[in-house]
Amino acid sequence: MNTYIGIDLGTSSVKLLLTAADGRILNAVTKEYPVYYPQSGWSEQNPEDWISATRLGLDALLNGYRRDEVKGVSFGGQMHGLVLLDDRDEVIRPAILWNDGRTQKQTDRLNTVVGKETLSRYTANVAFAGFTAPKILWVEENEPQNFVRIAKIMLPKDYLAYMLTGVHVTDYSDASGMLLMDVQNKCWSKEMCAYCHVDEKWLPKLCESYACIGTVRDEYGLPNAIVTAGAGDNAAAAIGTGTVQDGDCNISLGTSGTVFIAQNAFSVDGHNALHSFAHANGKYHLMGCILSAASCNKWWSEEILNTKDFFAEQDGLDALLGKNDVFFLPYLMGERSPHNDVSARGAFIGMRPDTTRKEMTLAVLEGVAFALRDCVEVARSNGLAITRTKICGGGAKSEIWKKIIANVLNLPVATVGIEEGPAYGAAILAMVGAGEYKDISEATAAIVKTKDVVLPDPIIAAAYQEKYRVFRQAYPALKGVFAQI
Ligand code: XUL
Repeated sequence: MNTYIGIDLGTSSVKLLLTAADGRILNAVTKEYPVYYPQSGWSEQNPEDWISATRLGLDALLNGYRRDEVKGVSFGGQMHGLVLLDDRDEVIRPAILWNDGRTQKQTDRLNTVVGKETLSRYTANVAFAGFTAPKILWVEENEPQNFVRIAKIMLPKDYLAYMLTGVHVTDYSDASGMLLMDVQNKCWSKEMCAYCHVDEKWLPKLCESYACIGTVRDEYGLPNAIVTAGAGDNAAAAIGTGTVQDGDCNISLGTSGTVFIAQNAFSVDGHNALHSFAHANGKYHLMGCILSAASCNKWWSEEILNTKDFFAEQDGLDALLGKNDVFFLPYLMGERSPHNDVSARGAFIGMRPDTTRKEMTLAVLEGVAFALRDCVEVARSNGLAITRTKICGGGAKSEIWKKIIANVLNLPVATVGIEEGPAYGAAILAMVGAGEYKDISEATAAIVKTKDVVLPDPIIAAAYQEKYRVFRQAYPALKGVFAQI
């Protein structure tokens, strides 16, 4: 039997799936690793942790399965992270992650000195603090001793692929988030490389996500597996949920939250509030990204309520939907879409002496849903008609959260049979790369099936419409306060 491995290099853990060629999951393993917050708003990881967790994960995944039957491996990965290697392939410094906000100065300079219009012309995007190019400028300015050692620049999943194969490659979807790629023409932007003092030979070779890049080094014991380039986690999740036709929408409710809209043709949001990136199926997508989504619930439950039992905490919330007058702003790590503000922070508003723990828990789930709605509204203002969406990610395991999102967005929200979006998408990329299916559309049509659909309720949706009207006023009112904290 031919089998395939999809690896999702996430922020809190690496998730590995072993699938059959017909898409059945044979085994799944998760291995966690730490995130370090060395200063307020900074976020880093040790790339070596990703490799050791993946090694352990692969051994656990294949325990009891034939290694010689694995025909393909691919990846989904946290996007935008900066991994720097020197000329001996040593990691120069910890990876600076997608939700790190240290680069405000460099981001502002890119947006004002190069200018948003020019950036958008070169790369289809403007600068956001989490993107890779501002991080390279930050290293040059703050750690010149590290900058002079750079021999290779990589994104997180590409470092993993490099360790597995020895090949320095990235794919168009992930590279789109570096602000160094001309997204429309799918090549490195010479202008951006020059501005960031990046030698093009430091950068990986670009290819499609389903392109075969090599084989696995002997030490990993996968003698018959080809490796395909993989994708940024959101594009991989979109493949995993079958979000591949023009206009299809997928929401990912992981550490970050994203609203991903597949597009056949290249396009740019007029205000660049949505990212314009390449898709993993050879086409394009628009995407809004909120920096803290399921991580808000994790923080609230684990750090504040001191419980890991998320579901018990959510028990009974159903009766409160549309009736809660507590608000939560989910900007724990600042915010990307649509505010682009590294200083924004989380906030509860509207508590009374009789406010309950349940109401505050509900406010956290609602606050994330409202922030996703902000992204959907930007898409709508660009003329995109979103009529339904899929959802995946850890947060989508919560039925109540899906119901809140369906009502806040006033959209049917569908879950597919296999919820491990990015890892499953990665396995599909491996299948296509190995020739199991002709292309991504054929593969997703054959194996991705809808499991259930949550429909909005007109009364609850109307109540949330009113609450969203108030929510929208909260960030502008607090922006100046956040800047002083
Ligand atoms: C997307 C983004 C996040 C990360 C999370 O632009 O920054 O979704 O990819 O892993």
